[in-house]
Amino acid sequence: MRTQVAIIGAGPSGLLLGQLLHKAGIDAIILERQSGDYVLGRIRAGVLEQVCIDLLDEVGVGQRMHQEGLVHGGFDMLFQGRRHRIDMHGLTGGKNVMVYGQTEVTRDLMDARREAGLPTVYEANHVTVRDFDTTRPRVHYEKDGKTFEIECDFIAGCDGFHGVCRASVPEGAVASYEKIYPFGWLGVLSDTPPVHEELIYVNSQRGFALCSMRSHTRSRHYLQVPLSDTVEGWSDDAFWNELRLRLDPAARDALVTGPSLEKSIAPLRSFVAEPMRFGRLFLAGDAAHIVPPTGAKGLNLAATDVKYLSRALIEFYQEKSQAGIDTYSDTCLRRIWKAERFSWWFTSLMHHFPENGPIGQKLQEAELDYLVHSEAAARSVAENYVGLPLDFGE
Ligand code: APR
Ligand code: PHB
Repeated sequence: MRTQVAIIGAGPSGLLLGQLLHKAGIDAIILERQSGDYVLGRIRAGVLEQVCIDLLDEVGVGQRMHQEGLVHGGFDMLFQGRRHRIDMHGLTGGKNVMVYGQTEVTRDLMDARREAGLPTVYEANHVTVRDFDTTRPRVHYEKDGKTFEIECDFIAGCDGFHGVCRASVPEGAVASYEKIYPFGWLGVLSDTPPVHEELIYVNSQRGFALCSMRSHTRSRHYLQVPLSDTVEGWSDDAFWNELRLRLDPAARDALVTGPSLEKSIAPLRSFVAEPMRFGRLFLAGDAAHIVPPTGAKGLNLAATDVKYLSRALIEFYQEKSQAGIDTYSDTCLRRIWKAERFSWWFTSLMHHFPENGPIGQKLQEAELDYLVHSEAAARSVAENYVGLPLDFGE
């Protein structure tokens, strides 16, 4: 088999890259280890920046998002038992975010790929990436007991944090930066109306909480929990009771509880691998970086990585220029580090760190008080939350 770009991983990075390349007439095959249903079963964040919305529109998959997604012009910060709104729309000159689940984005991209008749191999086992330090990279995989080889010009490693691509780079060629946080997020999805029309980020002495949503009838809530906790140890009742204790009286009154449709605990990590290109192998999305979920930057960063990558590959094929390929890693990393900084800062501000003692809580509250009363500080948060422009700092 031969293709121009072999894409490893059919998460949002791989699927969006596939669509961007297809629009430019570049052939790609996607190899995915799991089944399509498994990929769609993963519940992840759901806040899209304008840059991400524009990209989904650009590849023609934005229709359902515009119909079903919820446009938010602000969010609430709750601390010391009181709520304050960050008016993102007003503070950024009219920018918003779209609340639309990553699962739905993935579904829309998958549908578009299938409708266009583009090749995706699900349940591709033992993928190996080879010869990416030459101009003739190859990918091997197994499917239904048979071995296949793909010859290609480039390999796009869109295979997530635990993927094979980053792991195939010679040790010493990649530097990793990592921080693991001493707590996790316990998430519950439920068919109950959201507590409020916008998201509520909660700093409380009992720990962080987040009231989010997927639609007017489906909520997504999170609680900061110790890493030693297990999902089995949290009954639905215990979850709702603890959430109530972290909310303000109005939100508590508005809270409608119900059975959980999904319940999981996710660890929080900041991670960046540098560089993101090794000859003809590129890393994109979670394969290269992880942000803690506070601020929901993961999917948005994945989307901008593959935008830069598609631009570089289009330049290569259409203009015979290597320039975009050579600058890919630096261009991505400038944006990634800013989102890493914001996600780390927002996580540090909102979570309870017992090791910081009572002074830690007091300093967080002072910063939050400053933030919601200083237009300059609030604008900085708003600017980062809605997402920096694609060409920021150019
Ligand atoms: N071979 C083939 N596919 C693989 C392999 C492998 N060896 N290893 C992993 N994969 C697949 C996974 O099964 C997964 O479907 O690669 C895909 C990677 O998808 P994601 O983990 O969703 O990563 P990405 O597409 O970069 O999306 C980033 O996902 O985790 C969130 O916060 C993150 O929202 C962000 C988004
Ligand atoms: C979510 O809805 O899952 C969500 C929203 C905002 C975040 C993180 C997660 O910051």
